[in-house]
Amino acid sequence: MILTVKLNDNLDFPIIGLGTYNAGKEGEVEEVVKHAIDIGYRHIDGALVYENEKEVGAAIKAKIAEGVIMRDDIFVTSKLWNTYHKPELVMQGIKKTLSDLGLEYLDLYLVHWPFAFQEGGSLMPKDENDKFIPSDVDYLDTWKVMEECVKLGLTKSVGLSNFNSEQIQRVLDVATIKPVVNQIECHPYLNQSKLIAFCKERGIVVTAYSPLGSPNSIAMADTPAPLKDPKLQEIAKEHEKTAAQIILRYLIQHGTVPIPKSSNKERLKENIDIFNFKLSPQEMASIDALDRNVRVCTFAEDHKLYPFNIEF
Ligand code: A2P
Repeated sequence: MILTVKLNDNLDFPIIGLGTYNAGKEGEVEEVVKHAIDIGYRHIDGALVYENEKEVGAAIKAKIAEGVIMRDDIFVTSKLWNTYHKPELVMQGIKKTLSDLGLEYLDLYLVHWPFAFQEGGSLMPKDENDKFIPSDVDYLDTWKVMEECVKLGLTKSVGLSNFNSEQIQRVLDVATIKPVVNQIECHPYLNQSKLIAFCKERGIVVTAYSPLGSPNSIAMADTPAPLKDPKLQEIAKEHEKTAAQIILRYLIQHGTVPIPKSSNKERLKENIDIFNFKLSPQEMASIDALDRNVRVCTFAEDHKLYPFNIEF
């Protein structure tokens, strides 16, 4: 049984979920999601741009058909891609996701990034110099239609992803339905303490993506990986846990909701076996001290709405 936290619209959000970005090769993701549900995961985080929502949906529907879960037992998140920000395209974006998943509603729909890309073609439209082709849509116009998605029952809640504090505040200043979540990269080497505090003060829960620092990503190849950190390994030894379990527990004790991914059965189990121990305030502080501003996920950095050029 996974614990939940209340969102600002009073809905329950399981405090750990399964990430599905690169969560296995084609054909593997369905098995991973099925197994995750079998062993107790009740929160699946996906997105249109991951291009695997058919498999994710097939797994969820199979588990509903088998009677392992009912639709209401599982929290399903997806995200509006950057080529669908124009108000007239937002409904298309969510409807494509719902149709690929084969579900009637989402629990949570996020604006994946604060910036938009040229609409209508590739999900990653690039010019001859390999630069992303931007589209000049203000995410406040996108947000109005996100609210419509709630009113039409296509999603229960709406939220943000990769928004900085100024961008979040702009949305809050006009929202009639508040974002419940901001999903950001968060791990011991990028602990996001300021943005987490900012969100907490405004009733927004932070979902932590790349919680383990995405150890197998190319971007991480030259940078130190938190899983190998000596301090984390020392704390892990004391608790007879793994470094991954210490990191996930640390993120949860800070009130964030990590969404680790794994395509390995043992590690899937390991990552939710974190509710039978506690980190002390001293241990939390020593992990806080590991912060070093290492970001795995940088993307379209020259877009004028790129979020990570300010302090938080
Ligand atoms: P694998 O699929 O072989 O388990 P993140 O969620 O931060 O992006 O990290 C995901 C990566 O971390 C995946 O490559 C996954 O590899 C690996 N991983 C997931 N869980 C664990 C774990 N408990 N211990 C070590 N590596 C893990």
